[in-house]
Amino acid sequence: MDIAVLDFGGQYCHMISRRIRALGVHAEILPAGTSAAQLKDVKGVILSGGAASVYDKNAPQMDAAVLSLGIPILGICYGHQLLAHALGGKVTSGSSGEYGITELRIRRKNRLMKNLIFPINVWMNHRDVVTDLPKEYSISGSTRDSKIAAFSDEKNKIYGLQFHPEVTHTENGDEMLQNFVFGVCKAAKNYRPKTADDLVHEARIDIGQRKAIIALSGGIDSATAATLVSKAIGDNLVAVYVDTGLMGESDIAFVKQLRLNLTVIDAKEKFFTRLEGVTDPEQKRKIIGKTFIEIFEDAAKKEKAAVLVQGTIYSDRIESGSTKHSSTIKSHHNVGGLPKKMNLELYEPLRDLYKDEVRQIAAQLGLSKDIINRHVFPGPGLAIRIVGEVTEEKAGLVRRATEIIEEELKKAGLYEKVWMGFAVLLPIKSVGIQGDERSYKYPIVVRIIESKDAMTANFAKVPYEILEKISTRITNEIREVNRVVYDISNKPPATMEWE
Ligand code: XMP
Repeated sequence: MDIAVLDFGGQYCHMISRRIRALGVHAEILPAGTSAAQLKDVKGVILSGGAASVYDKNAPQMDAAVLSLGIPILGICYGHQLLAHALGGKVTSGSSGEYGITELRIRRKNRLMKNLIFPINVWMNHRDVVTDLPKEYSISGSTRDSKIAAFSDEKNKIYGLQFHPEVTHTENGDEMLQNFVFGVCKAAKNYRPKTADDLVHEARIDIGQRKAIIALSGGIDSATAATLVSKAIGDNLVAVYVDTGLMGESDIAFVKQLRLNLTVIDAKEKFFTRLEGVTDPEQKRKIIGKTFIEIFEDAAKKEKAAVLVQGTIYSDRIESGSTKHSSTIKSHHNVGGLPKKMNLELYEPLRDLYKDEVRQIAAQLGLSKDIINRHVFPGPGLAIRIVGEVTEEKAGLVRRATEIIEEELKKAGLYEKVWMGFAVLLPIKSVGIQGDERSYKYPIVVRIIESKDAMTANFAKVPYEILEKISTRITNEIREVNRVVYDISNKPPATMEWE
């Protein structure tokens, strides 16, 4: 690795490493407190942003010895404040903060700003500000609310940027990162993302003659991992698809399309029996997770598999190491705990790749566009989209309504533009009028959201005509429904799923 990105919890941390990798330089995300000894061979260190204030009791810290390694350092946002604080400067809590786009005026050009013409628009997202620097540091740029929006010590190659160069709203952000990575750190352009052929070759060597098993979830990650391992070891990979009765309409067709050595286990009855009378969302999740693992464990034993293949990707791996929301999200379909308990060796061929890189691998493997562009589907499936007790009948209604929503989004050319679109069934009924007769039926909630990283989301401003089509189709085609409502909540305060 050439560039280490220390993770101080900021939501754009991944974007920094993605951008640098896109420049052809190998970047890795490491925990905030990574020791100087572990960093001594890298060409540069970037301190990411984060939500804390340097004065918070539990504020993430860095190993101060990193500052004396003589390696170029770039602090971004919280990293900028932490650097200033650690170097003997002053950070104060700003009265209003600075959010969004603002103009950066140049004070004294540093090497990050080489070849750039100022002023430029930069993207800010902070409350605290650096108000003082030790005298060997000079102010490189200012904005209206941050006198010290950029600082540097050219001699020791230490740089701070209060704004986010990794965010596309910042003009010339890429150039600044390039100037740092190539101009200051002298990193070489020698990173090339692995190709499908590389991964197939590696899997062949790593797994050899052993038998492997993978649980397919219907998502792109497990489909890609399964396809490439099956290219490597053929039928020695057994792909297991547990039909929980809670999957989407096209899931089985989708996994069959993959042409793998596939075992479909029909466990619908088991899941619905165990979910009988259960209304608490967390209990639903636990029952589904436990039942799934039980069934999968059985299958793995029967197959006498030695290796468990999983579609874990780079961001899952980084996130499960911390306390982020996503570590809980993944607890079900990553079949956590299984490898240790069953003496299975874990094999994660996509562990170093980002989602877009996984999509590229999937395309190289010849997976269809439909598979590659599928929306995320939650591990517990439709169960968390049925408020109250889950029954087979209700799962059928939500599945059908979701299918209609997806079809209409596809027709309108919106499917690939939104994060996800789905239906939720509420455990209430309301009065309607259909064919001159009074009806008393369920409402369906339509939820269509836009998001970049799943951490925050906005409801999609879908044109009324499309919502009307969706509404009309749902009430016409699903007998048990007489009312459709559109969820206009953002995340936060709501979550994407209803449970
Ligand atoms: P929320 O509802 O937390 O959803 O805003 C964010 C994203 O995560 C998915 N999600 C899950 N995925 N198991 C999963 O595998 C889960 O328990 C789970 N809960 C939410 C959700 O579909 C959305 O894309």
